[in-house]
Amino acid sequence: MNYDELADLYDHQYDVYRDDLHHYARVGEQARGPVLEIGSGTGRVTTFLARRGVDITGLEPSARMIERAQDRAQRDGLTVKYVQGDARTFSLDQRFDTVIAPFNALMHLYTPNEQLQAMENIHAHLKTGGHFTFDLYVPRFGKPHTLRHEGETFHAPDGSRTDVFLVQRHDKPRQHITTEYHVDTAAPDGTLKRRHYTLTQRYYTRYEVEWLLRFAGFESPRVTGSFQGGPLDAHSEVMVFSTRAV
Ligand SMILES: C[S@@+](CC[C@H](N)C(=O)[O-])C[C@H]1O[C@@H](n2cnc3c(N)ncnc32)[C@H](O)[C@@H]1O
Repeated sequence: MNYDELADLYDHQYDVYRDDLHHYARVGEQARGPVLEIGSGTGRVTTFLARRGVDITGLEPSARMIERAQDRAQRDGLTVKYVQGDARTFSLDQRFDTVIAPFNALMHLYTPNEQLQAMENIHAHLKTGGHFTFDLYVPRFGKPHTLRHEGETFHAPDGSRTDVFLVQRHDKPRQHITTEYHVDTAAPDGTLKRRHYTLTQRYYTRYEVEWLLRFAGFESPRVTGSFQGGPLDAHSEVMVFSTRAV
């Protein structure tokens, strides 16, 4: 999944999302050594932690997302190290105390082989006993094949207005949710620019993640249904996993 095309839209959509920041900041501040973020995107979480003095490296496959992350760090007067790479294949000459993968980053691993390869590679980059924490959304789907507007309207300083429409389809056997984004930007003179992006996510169930982690050499994880540590129950929207490398 290449986020290059999505990079310009990404910050408009998710810069305001803050639910997870304090969980990852707490984990980063408690780390007894360097922290690695998998799928660091435009640096939403990375910068938040770097600002708190956490020694963090962001790993991200999309060059365009890294560019935006570097711009963000520069704007904030921070130096953050970003490495272009894929969770399955990256190779760094460093063992980390803690690895984090915020905001569904692992949902871009589509098959059991890809997932296991990534988990084993993350394990190989952790010190023994090192901490690994990540979150995934609880599978819950809107009406498929229905064009929706979920309130995503962005007004830019140049007076243009952007509206995001989406339609989703669900491939149950593969556990894939594909979202087609139709993004309309109307300039002040009425000119309309229409863009289209496709995003596919592989959703997980709680116990398949538990088995995957154990198979890759991690302890049985702690699983919560919120970033504040509440239980995973029928109302939870996220699954937050925390484990250690054996
Ligand atoms: C939903 S974004 C999350 C970005 C960031 N962690 C945040 O919280 O804002 C998912 C990120 O995972 C990255 N990604 C996709 N496939 C990946 C892979 N195989 N390995 C590592 N990162 C990946 C994407 O490029 C994207 O930046």
